[in-house]
Amino acid sequence: MLVSAKEMLTKAREGKYAVGQFNINNLEWTKAILQTAQELNSPVILGVSEGAGKYMCGFKTVADMVKAMVEELKITVPVALHLDHGSYEGAKKCIEAGFSSIMFDGSHYAIEENIEKTKELVETCNKLGLSLEAEVGSIGGEEDGVVGLGECADPAECKMIADLGVTMLAAGIGNIHGKYPANWPGLRFDVLASIKEKVGDMPLVLHGGTGIPAEMIKEAISLGVAKINVNTECQLAFAEATRKYIEAGKDLEGKGFDPRKLLAPGAEAIKATVKEKMELFGSINKA
Ligand code: 13P
Repeated sequence: MLVSAKEMLTKAREGKYAVGQFNINNLEWTKAILQTAQELNSPVILGVSEGAGKYMCGFKTVADMVKAMVEELKITVPVALHLDHGSYEGAKKCIEAGFSSIMFDGSHYAIEENIEKTKELVETCNKLGLSLEAEVGSIGGEEDGVVGLGECADPAECKMIADLGVTMLAAGIGNIHGKYPANWPGLRFDVLASIKEKVGDMPLVLHGGTGIPAEMIKEAISLGVAKINVNTECQLAFAEATRKYIEAGKDLEGKGFDPRKLLAPGAEAIKATVKEKMELFGSINKA
């Protein structure tokens, strides 16, 4: 059974640790993350971007696959299936498809429109018992080879969105998606502290978890971050392990071309990455 992210994040905030959101791309990805969470007795959030949802043949395919996998693999730790950076339409589709958690990213709208749309989704999600993540201050990243630095959210706007009754809030604090450029100045803890002061107990979400140094992750958690998103790091680990397998000519030995063999090192690499993050975030044995 899938659960909303509300309870796991409330516990994380109170216990001063964070729950990882790991984005999924296919069956192997999902299986590797679920098995690691179960093995380490950690709560987990599976993130699905709109692009990944499309790639996996639609949100219904994803929701049905994840639900069946949780059952067949006898996963007992709390698992939330979460739409990552959803549009308004995408959010509606995921609610219908059976996701247990939704992110509506209205950060590119003017604050009034972000408020209006977030408010409507708060009502729907509350009725259905789903968690809802909202975003203020867009999170930068690589687009067409250009790496934009992350924006910083306005703490007053964060409060306006938090007061609508969302479950958790993503706020830009200089974090970006993908690899951090060499000249990245680091997370803005002063901004994070002012946001925390305004929004109080609301669990905060740190996007762009790939490549943030361990000490910064720990400081962010101490300032109210209870959910950390990781995507690129699993992709890099998967690609590196797969490349090594092919470069070593393993696909040419015996039945090494069998996808169950060819994709195995990549899956193991995802597991190792997820484990490392769960250790750093402090979510092990918190299921
Ligand atoms: P990274 O790809 O940088 O880990 O970011 C993931 C993320 O924030 C998904 O929303």
